[in-house]
Amino acid sequence: MSKDAFLSAMGIEVYRLRSQRGESQQSDADSELKESAEQPSITFDHANAEDSQVVAATPSIPALNSLAELSLGEVANIASTCRLCTLSKERTNVVFGSGSESADLMFIGEGPGAEEDKQGLPFVGKAGQLLTSMIAALGLNRDAVYICNIVKCRPPQNRDPLPIEAKACTPYLSRQIELIQPKVIVALGRVSAQLLLDSEMPLGGLRRQTYKFKDTDIDLVVTYHPAYLLRKPTEKAKSWEDLWKVRQILQR
Ligand code: URA
Repeated sequence: MSKDAFLSAMGIEVYRLRSQRGESQQSDADSELKESAEQPSITFDHANAEDSQVVAATPSIPALNSLAELSLGEVANIASTCRLCTLSKERTNVVFGSGSESADLMFIGEGPGAEEDKQGLPFVGKAGQLLTSMIAALGLNRDAVYICNIVKCRPPQNRDPLPIEAKACTPYLSRQIELIQPKVIVALGRVSAQLLLDSEMPLGGLRRQTYKFKDTDIDLVVTYHPAYLLRKPTEKAKSWEDLWKVRQILQR
């Protein structure tokens, strides 16, 4: 697929130069979408001692220690009643993940938004529609990939997940990755990329190379969060470069 065809599949409108577009084209949903580029960074390991005690003091879910033996459905079932962090207090639904359990391609966002919280499914709002177009531009159907988030419950006001919240949710994500064993993970946005790579580097720097996820053979590609692309459509051409890398890995 040529770059033009790829860009067209992602919606040619959004690739027009800023000077060719009306500046008032931001969607209504944009006000709900945050740009995360300037937010302070966090990593899995940065939960402080006090935070760790909170996790330790939280009534534990009996099977959390033995997720290693559970299927995806069983893990989702446990997550559905999770109370390991305070995000559980305000959620409507746990958003565990969706898609193929044998997917070669896995997308990981940061956390559910309002629509996801309502439906219990990841990336079903405006940003999700763009993600669906990005997946289609790769020649794939949403059902053929696996989509989930770092945290499974919606952070209030769509704020970034706190280190303590990301840490509490890590066993679920780890087991998802272990069971699905994708060929490639795409980290969507700075929060996801920094947590998965245990890095504090800004997104612009992180997306310059392809990584291996922790000590596995799984390739990890970093790209912009679709919500950010909705706010900054001119950056979509860069996301094409990232998805091109993904396409090449999938074709190997
Ligand atoms: N943003 C995310 O990071 N995840 C979702 O599921 C939706 C929006």
